[in-house]
Amino acid sequence: MTAPLRQPAPGETIVPVALGDRAYDIVIGRDAIATLGSRIKALRPGARVAILTDENVAAKHLARVEDILKTSGIDSSAIIVKPGEGSKNYATFETVCEAVIAAKIERNDLIVALGGGVIGDLAGFVAASVRRGLDFVQVPTSLLAQVDSSVGGKTGINSRHGKNLIGAFHQPILVIADTAALDTLPPREFRSGYAEVAKYGLLGDAEFFAWLETNWRDVFSGGAAREHAIAVSCRAKAAIVARDERETGDRALLNLGHTFGHAFEAGAGFSQRLLHGEAVALGCVLAFEFSERQGLLGGNSVARVRAHLADCGLPTKMSDVQGGVPDVDRLMELIAQDKKVKRGKLTFILARGVGQAFVAGDVDPAAIRGFLADKRAS
Ligand code: GLY
Repeated sequence: MTAPLRQPAPGETIVPVALGDRAYDIVIGRDAIATLGSRIKALRPGARVAILTDENVAAKHLARVEDILKTSGIDSSAIIVKPGEGSKNYATFETVCEAVIAAKIERNDLIVALGGGVIGDLAGFVAASVRRGLDFVQVPTSLLAQVDSSVGGKTGINSRHGKNLIGAFHQPILVIADTAALDTLPPREFRSGYAEVAKYGLLGDAEFFAWLETNWRDVFSGGAAREHAIAVSCRAKAAIVARDERETGDRALLNLGHTFGHAFEAGAGFSQRLLHGEAVALGCVLAFEFSERQGLLGGNSVARVRAHLADCGLPTKMSDVQGGVPDVDRLMELIAQDKKVKRGKLTFILARGVGQAFVAGDVDPAAIRGFLADKRAS
């Protein structure tokens, strides 16, 4: 049973994730990390902590986090892995599990995930597995992790057959999104995370998308607008997760842009050629364009999506992908792998307008193939 400490410090926003006896808070704010020790102490008095992080994040933030925990009288040890998607593998999972056990982290202790999406997913799956379930705290340090992967309890590692195929739903007991951690992110990485922010507007909040169209430069430059965008995104995700934790319905809306996006990401070998958020941006444009082609939406929706993401420097057409994209046969294979074909139909997240996405479980693969062929040639 978690007992979130619900006192926001000045300038902080707290977004609750309403999951009954697994409810937790997302604390958002500049220097929110300073409250990590006191919050852990309030949630789990006497707990010891294993911090999982990567070499890059450790160089920037580990000493500070260790200090904050020490000041609150919390014993901690650090486990440092290599940065990058490659660490979401069986070998690293084993190494980290063994290190957690060797550090004598017991059932009442905690794992702290300090890093981006890779660290959050890996730490969460280790927490779900060691001693049949340890509690964990997410301290996301990338925009993508702050607005998406640290919230909602999806944890896991990759299989040779695909991304995130080995994993568990395991909710954190607390998320601390310190927006100051984003100051040192490379601009390309920040932009990539921004695609997930825009996605929340596109999928269910037209007003937020309009706000982003006007204020995106302020979100990029930091300050109150950035914190507002992160808080709105987290609120949207928290609401969806609270009503569909295990993705039996509405949670699939969060996959807007992801089915097309994953195919391009896989086509680029999950490399620096195309970052996840860049693939999502391109995928969102395609989802809107396909929706328009199916007669689902009209007006200027497609033009707005395309223009906004392009203004932010994100890819909006296949020719924007460095090194090109796979041919249509390969794209269709990748799409079918990502979303199994059910009774000859594909599931896509489509839209009736900005802020009006829906789950379409009856998309004809031939229509997708024709669409991709035309887009690839254009
Ligand atoms: N990133 C999608 C989800 O959490 O469901």
